[in-house]
Amino acid sequence: MSDSPWHPASWRDRPVSQQPEWPDPGALEAALKTLSGLPPLVFAGEARRLRSSLAEVAAGRAFLLQAGDCAESFSDWSADIIRDKLKVILQMAVILTYGGGVPVVKVGRIAGQFAKPRTAATEKAGGVEIPAFRGHIVHDDAPTAEARVPDPTRMLTAYHQSASTLNLLRAFTKGGFADLSQVHVWNQEFVARSPAGRHYEALAGEIERALRFMSACGVDLSSEGKLHQVDFWTSHEALLLPWEEALTRRDSLTGDWYDCSAHLLWVGERTRGLDGAHVEFLRGVHNPVAAKVGPGATPADVLGLCEALNPERVPGRLTLIARMGAMKVGTALPPLLSAVADAGHPVVWACDPMHGNTFSSDGGRKTRRFDDVIEEIRGFFAAHAQVGTWPGGVHVELTGDDVTECLGGGSEVLEDDLPLRYTTTCDPRLNAGQSLDLAFRVAELLRA
Ligand code: PEP
Ligand code: CO
Repeated sequence: MSDSPWHPASWRDRPVSQQPEWPDPGALEAALKTLSGLPPLVFAGEARRLRSSLAEVAAGRAFLLQAGDCAESFSDWSADIIRDKLKVILQMAVILTYGGGVPVVKVGRIAGQFAKPRTAATEKAGGVEIPAFRGHIVHDDAPTAEARVPDPTRMLTAYHQSASTLNLLRAFTKGGFADLSQVHVWNQEFVARSPAGRHYEALAGEIERALRFMSACGVDLSSEGKLHQVDFWTSHEALLLPWEEALTRRDSLTGDWYDCSAHLLWVGERTRGLDGAHVEFLRGVHNPVAAKVGPGATPADVLGLCEALNPERVPGRLTLIARMGAMKVGTALPPLLSAVADAGHPVVWACDPMHGNTFSSDGGRKTRRFDDVIEEIRGFFAAHAQVGTWPGGVHVELTGDDVTECLGGGSEVLEDDLPLRYTTTCDPRLNAGQSLDLAFRVAELLRA
């Protein structure tokens, strides 16, 4: 496969799954033409910096925190929502850095995470069969056949929403909001009342004392750039290939192709087939890339992904995101870790403890138990300890809001609470308190 020449459209010669059926090819082409003339969202040099940071993770010297929405929304979108999501990710990173003692590479599922793969192509709504929801980049989520007609102009809306989300993230992370002196400010009031929030307050107090101590010792903290700004990278699933192709540009410095829709792109569990269009597309872009692997993946599948996506074995180029489920991680993961280690592929291994632990509650809402999420992370760390590899990171779906979508956790969401604040357009997310709780437990595992 990798012997054939690659170009941004070479995926079109492969079988492509999980794409919407666009009703008007002319309108699709017009939207893509506009998109391909718009400025890139990220720059190749940034993607290379992220790759270097991920190389540190692959070498066991840093930890990856990848987090954000399952699906970003066109309607539930505001400066406050972006800020609050960033707050909780910064809090988690501080907990992991301070509690776990490792540098943390921070990557959002944000500024482009709009397209969703679906297990079934249709769903039942009010007794009628309608197309399943594939994300706001394709159509609206209202449960009617009209709302689910794919509209290519939405790809332009997705571009503009990504650009403005990224703009705000850059402003927040480089303009003072992410300054370590703000650790207390990131703790939102409703979070501060939860057990994890109180635990966080204590940790933030320790950090403040440490900063005051260094200052009193004569260290000039104002000149330490790393205390005042953070690198925050964007990522999404490279699912909607026409959109990704239209944002793929040749870097003027190196002549290499980069998918400039995000710093890191991943291929999902449903589209990672070695002969499929998605792997073909990702193999040719020079961004760091990732692949999800579920419990059905064999060592040969995973080695195939390593060879297809990182034949030159560049550290930091490839992240494998295991999403096995709490019950299966202990048996399914170790053979994959061993195979990759024995083959000498320098990958980052991250744990997605969300997608293998989803079920429907009695009320029919998709949910996940916080305890299952933690159990899978424990199994992930145990598998790495067994094989002698580095548990490189976690990949979670979360929001900064006080939603009631996942069960349990410090603030104890019960099954009857699910309808209270269930606002996700796709999978259930951890709320801010549950996210901090998770970070404290991961920090403990890192320390151990
Ligand atoms: C996702 O990350 O939202 C997703 C659909 O994951 P997976 O491909 O692992 O099912
Ligand atoms: Co999801």
